[in-house]
Amino acid sequence: MKPIRKVVIPVAGHGTRVLPATKAFPKELLPVVDRPLIHYVVEEAFEAGIEHVVFVTGRNKAAIEDYFDHAFELETSLKEKGKVEILEDVQSSVFQPGQMSFTRQQAPAGLGHAIWCARDIIGDEPFAISLPDVIVRGAPGCLKQMVDQYNQVGGNMIAVEEVPREEVHKYGVIAPKSTDGRLMEMSGMVEKPAVEDAPSNFSIMGRYILQPEIFALLAKTGKGAGGEIQLTDAMAELLSQQQFFALNYEGESHDCGSKLGWMKANLAFGVDRPEFAADLKAFAKEL
Ligand code: UTP
Repeated sequence: MKPIRKVVIPVAGHGTRVLPATKAFPKELLPVVDRPLIHYVVEEAFEAGIEHVVFVTGRNKAAIEDYFDHAFELETSLKEKGKVEILEDVQSSVFQPGQMSFTRQQAPAGLGHAIWCARDIIGDEPFAISLPDVIVRGAPGCLKQMVDQYNQVGGNMIAVEEVPREEVHKYGVIAPKSTDGRLMEMSGMVEKPAVEDAPSNFSIMGRYILQPEIFALLAKTGKGAGGEIQLTDAMAELLSQQQFFALNYEGESHDCGSKLGWMKANLAFGVDRPEFAADLKAFAKEL
């Protein structure tokens, strides 16, 4: 079984749900507490043993490259002023040379199309996908839990979490075939089902491990929901050929691609930080 060495992080979307905040800078750099969304997602990937990050970028996304590089003037100035702690924090997001690649999706034709753009960089090996607007609270992180399971069972894997039954119509939902603890083998998946038709209340939340055969399927996947090339459509096809698992991981996801989700994430991650917890809780009560 080949190990999971690379993660694809698609960052080429327009982020329309959080406009106008993202009119002039990438959604993936929206901060939660004191670091951008993409920082949490990359940290989670490295914790899972990922060695190489492939960003699928688009226009106006160059700031993401800069975020993971040295900022010499800033670092020099912090050093001169003796602000060592801040300097260390700033440098913690610098990648090792050769640890990241960038490929371009010229137009946001859909998540499936964005992933297909990474085909040559991934090559013939299984890989992970992390959606950068979803950040996860939980230790160990979601991707580490998935990689640990994948190393036992192989195949393809989607992280899922339970949502209230009456809300399944907002999500991609999986159909479980058999269950072994938190791991389920899947028989199918449906995008935004009606409550009465939903095969479960386990929603797909933005972390995947896929075999490279997905690329050939993506290449012939036509436009689906919203006129976009959907990853879900190609995964449904792959599921008819290969084993697919769903992991009900331990933790909770925050969809920061929505305004309410982003505000809640700031509260949740804020109270996780000892220096802010008491004040933030008191303020929330007061509100
Ligand atoms: P979303 O649908 O959440 O992102 O896709 P979006 O399209 O930017 O947001 P809205 O719906 O307009 O508000 C999940 C991730 O996939 C990327 C996005 O950048 C986002 O991080 N994506 C989506 C692409 O890279 N390319 C696409 O064509 C679509």
